[in-house]
Amino acid sequence: TTPQQVRIVEVGPRDGLQNEKAIIPTAVKIELIDRLGETGLRSIEATSFVSPKWIPQLADAAEVFTGIARRAGVSYPVLVPNVQGYERARAVGAEEVAVFAAASEAFSKANINASIEESITRFEPVLERARADGVKVRGYVSTVLGCPYQGDVPLADVVRVATRLHRAGCYEISLGDTIGIGTPLKAKAMLAAVAAEVPMSALAIHFHDTRGQALANILACLDLGVAVIDAAVSGTGGCPYAKGASGNVASEDVVFMLEGMGIATGIDLPKLIATGQWLAAQLGRETGSKVGKAAA
Ligand code: HMG
Ligand code: MG
Repeated sequence: TTPQQVRIVEVGPRDGLQNEKAIIPTAVKIELIDRLGETGLRSIEATSFVSPKWIPQLADAAEVFTGIARRAGVSYPVLVPNVQGYERARAVGAEEVAVFAAASEAFSKANINASIEESITRFEPVLERARADGVKVRGYVSTVLGCPYQGDVPLADVVRVATRLHRAGCYEISLGDTIGIGTPLKAKAMLAAVAAEVPMSALAIHFHDTRGQALANILACLDLGVAVIDAAVSGTGGCPYAKGASGNVASEDVVFMLEGMGIATGIDLPKLIATGQWLAAQLGRETGSKVGKAAA
């Protein structure tokens, strides 16, 4: 049963910009988030409080977060890999954070220098503090449809990690096809397997478009009723620790598809397209959104 409404989680300022070669001025990041805030988006992932040695592109997380004009009714989650990140995020007033684990050991090691088990242990104090502080925690599971190092990832591993994060207190689990390797039937089977353990209302999909499959995969998953979709304006993005992880699916393209299907997103598409075009100009390249290109 296809949902009637979908919430888009805009991950462009974080996933989109974490992998850029050039260092993007803090003011551009702030303007991006503020422009996105005017489009009707309700969730805008703003930045990451990770080690600046690992992700130098987001070393200005505190400046970005304090520089944005936070709007009522809009959530601005930030990634935190550990308590240190949580404290940095709280020091600037973050009210929602995201922890991130993987379904494959090799990727976990490469991305956060920890085994899956160690990473979950590391999130426990973050979740504990968040509960005490009234902070919402989202949980990511990466490599749900394949790993750049180990190849196939057993569905049971995806289900196990997603279930652990949900039971540990994450209100929503975002299932990441980190390297955009999934195809529709596999994506649907993966979501169905997770949804047997975690309620669909607590699941989100996060598909990279490396091989042009993201919209098709989203469509297949919508059929199961998933109602939260991660996307990045202008189709930016990728994880520096996952070779071949190119852009996220473009938010403009997802919104265009959903609205065309009669599924409400609450987003002003022309404003979103304009924001994507503005960002592409800032990055000095063509937009990665087909809908954005068609509108130019
Ligand atoms: P480590 O080197 O094992 O950690 O990294 P450590 O505890 O030994 O610390 C090393 C140094 O980093 C120390 O500094 C710490 O203080 C510092 P030093 O003493 O050497 O000067 N440090 C920090 N600094 C600021 N904020 C922090 C922090 N933590 C430690 N929070 C660590 C382990 C987890 C920190 C590191 O591996 C890391 O930051 N990784 C982040 C990688 C990342 O952000 N990847 C991209 C996001 S995930 C993604 O894109 C996938 C997703 O989109 C879903 C999908 O597509 O699948 C979410
Ligand atoms: Mg991602």
